Amino acid sequence: MQVIQRVVELRQHLEPLRQAGKRIGFVPTMGNLHEGHLQLIRLARQQADIVVASIFVNPLQFGLNEDWEQYPRTLERDSAMLVAEGCDVLFCPTDREMYPNGMETQTKVEVPTMTNILCGASRPGHFLGVTTVVAKLFNMVQPHVAVFGIKDYQQLAVIRRMTEDLCIPVGIIAAPIARADDGLALSSRNGYLTAEERPRAVALYQALCRAREAIAGGRRDYATIEKEARETLAESGMRPDYFSVRHARTLEAASPDDRDLVLLGAVYLGKTRLIDNVSVSI
Ligand code: PAJ
Repeated sequence: MQVIQRVVELRQHLEPLRQAGKRIGFVPTMGNLHEGHLQLIRLARQQADIVVASIFVNPLQFGLNEDWEQYPRTLERDSAMLVAEGCDVLFCPTDREMYPNGMETQTKVEVPTMTNILCGASRPGHFLGVTTVVAKLFNMVQPHVAVFGIKDYQQLAVIRRMTEDLCIPVGIIAAPIARADDGLALSSRNGYLTAEERPRAVALYQALCRAREAIAGGRRDYATIEKEARETLAESGMRPDYFSVRHARTLEAASPDDRDLVLLGAVYLGKTRLIDNVSVSI
């Protein structure tokens, strides 16, 4: 596996491969890799000849009081995991390489409206940072396809929208959510949970599954379902941020006529922010 920090080197490495007709698959990450990330790598491998992963803990997508400094940086371990998966290139730029003119004056890419709800409502500026860095990474790697996890459902929807709106010639592939044995969605942030919190964390997924069952069983009183779930989460010692039944594609509040729905939840458990979602078609 080639480990590359500089954009010029990345281009030098990839251009001849592209010229030779190789399909390039890209998996952007912030590192501290787990089985969920590795599934993305495997999916990219199925769709492409060359797999490029990136690791960059993007300061632009973290709020001032968020965990950018604390975010786990485990490059050596990540690199070994990528080698074991047969990843071809690891691109791990420095902050300076990504933002040579500084973050303040960086040209930004903004997807409006759908970035102001759900996670965007509680993390202002977060998606602006995500779309800006992903647009830059797409220009650096110029992949044929890029893989994103359904775990970050809103992020995937926002990136699809950006790609469509800006006519970016990259196919977006969605990967299913990898979960621990008890059902907790794998996340680099799960490492923040204390031993006492970890077994309680699955309550979010359980609340989503219960709400999904209620909807599959015929209930359409979404506001009540949401309220009940928030109450249950609060009773199990979590601080619910949102719990919401939405239209699967637009992420607008679901109406009783909508057929394809997604249920999304975000909670704080102690200091850790957890997000998860489940889909249901009726
Ligand atoms: P990160 O949180 O490292 O996630 C990288 C990719 O892995 C994302 O597409 C995410 O949805 C996916 N992923 C994380 N946990 C997963 C799980 N349990 N199952 C399936 N996929 C999972 O998301 C980011 O980084 C950043 O915002 C990034 C897109 C790299 C831009 O900085």
